[in-house]
Amino acid sequence: EVHQREYLSNGELKKWDGEVSEVYSPIMMPTTEGLKRKLIGTYPIGTEKEANEALEAALAAYNNGRGEWPTMSLDGRIKCMEQFVYKMSEQRDVVVKLLMWEIGKSLADSTKEFDRTVEYITATIDALKDIDRQSSRFEIAEGVVAQSRRSPLGVVLCMGPFNYPLNETFTTLIPAIIMGNTLLFKPPKHGTLLHYPLLAAFRDSFPKGVVNVVYGRGANVTPGLMRTGKINVLAFIGSSKVANDLKKSHPKLNRLRAVLSLDAKNAAIVTKHADLKLAVSECILGALSFNGQRCTAIKLIFVHKEVADEFNTLLGEAISKLQPGMPWTKGVNLTPVTEPGKPAYLKECIDDAIANGAKVINEHGGTNAESFFFPAVVYPVNEKMKLYREEQFGPVIPVIPFESIEEPIQYQIDSPHGMQVSIFSTDAKEISSLIDPFVNLVSRVNINAQCQRGPDVFPFTGRKDSAEGTLSVHDALRAFSIRSLVATKL
Ligand code: G3H
Repeated sequence: EVHQREYLSNGELKKWDGEVSEVYSPIMMPTTEGLKRKLIGTYPIGTEKEANEALEAALAAYNNGRGEWPTMSLDGRIKCMEQFVYKMSEQRDVVVKLLMWEIGKSLADSTKEFDRTVEYITATIDALKDIDRQSSRFEIAEGVVAQSRRSPLGVVLCMGPFNYPLNETFTTLIPAIIMGNTLLFKPPKHGTLLHYPLLAAFRDSFPKGVVNVVYGRGANVTPGLMRTGKINVLAFIGSSKVANDLKKSHPKLNRLRAVLSLDAKNAAIVTKHADLKLAVSECILGALSFNGQRCTAIKLIFVHKEVADEFNTLLGEAISKLQPGMPWTKGVNLTPVTEPGKPAYLKECIDDAIANGAKVINEHGGTNAESFFFPAVVYPVNEKMKLYREEQFGPVIPVIPFESIEEPIQYQIDSPHGMQVSIFSTDAKEISSLIDPFVNLVSRVNINAQCQRGPDVFPFTGRKDSAEGTLSVHDALRAFSIRSLVATKL
């Protein structure tokens, strides 16, 4: 068990003796009262007082752009970041273990998440050197020479998601820091403890007040921080409802930049010319990796009527071969779902589909034993059902038969989301005819491949309600800075 009794504010690890929140793992363990979610630790429930202190520290460290950090040379900032990544790497084993216990991600995937994050930081440092080389001197008028540079924006409130509490959170936090901003970082509810071993690394690598970590229960601190009007950037990964509420709390929206990665309901489209075996294996990866708890997951599959039966049979067979197990077991594909209320919600979605004429077509689909929810293929799904509209964020695969390709295109046009799509076909002509309609509706079209974010150096964004701004290396450095000019009349 890890009991966190400290928090990082203004360059100090301060003692916490206030209220704490208990952290229960999604992994069930036998107790005298039967199987129970295991208590793995506690962390501080911060209040407005500490949040405001952290804000004051971040403001002071920024000092209207005159602080040590925003004025430090790029080389200086890079050195600090290199020190951070070195110190972070020393904590690899403990962070990976906490990640596994806190969110139930397999040990292999938790390790991947950590390593991917270290690579992301290194790539960010390289990209920054690149951006620096691009900052140029040029003549903007006769006798006037301008020097461009990328400048920070101010104080960033950074909030990450439970499904990638380290990696995806750091896709905002790292570029925000390295561009010279100062930070308030609130870790996600599921995925707080794993940041504890990194607090000293933050403290020792950056000047005081650059990184301040705030805690809270529900929404008790972040809306208040936004209401001060002193947050310059909201970097948020999670639901669009929370993002919109936070934005609305800010009194001067024109002074707030938002960098957001939000909801998605990505479709896979399997045409009658698809290689069905390939489509099935990619759809399984896309829909069920980390139990479907990914914004980039395939969350519904359109399959051409003529091949639907064969596709469904293959899909059911492939699911029956998946290996449920404890996250530390080698080779597991299905681990306990993270949020305690999720199995009941998924059951509700399945029941709604059944009430409207669909069936669970794979053996054991939708059954819930201990902390496992066995993936369900629900067929035929239509627009009346919750599973057609709602982002299930879990191991349920709605399958929709279609006759005309206009049907999935219309789905995408009507959808409030626009993150990714996967198209499966072996007909080159058909593929090229589908790229244009979809590439103008979503931010990434995958051909004969699952939906996914990576590699992390790729720009990552979405259209409509799925995102605001673009993340990942080069674009993220731009998202957390502004290009400013110094123009000199010679
Ligand atoms: O949850 C959303 C993440 O961006 C998914 O990332 O595609 O690498 O799993 P991923």
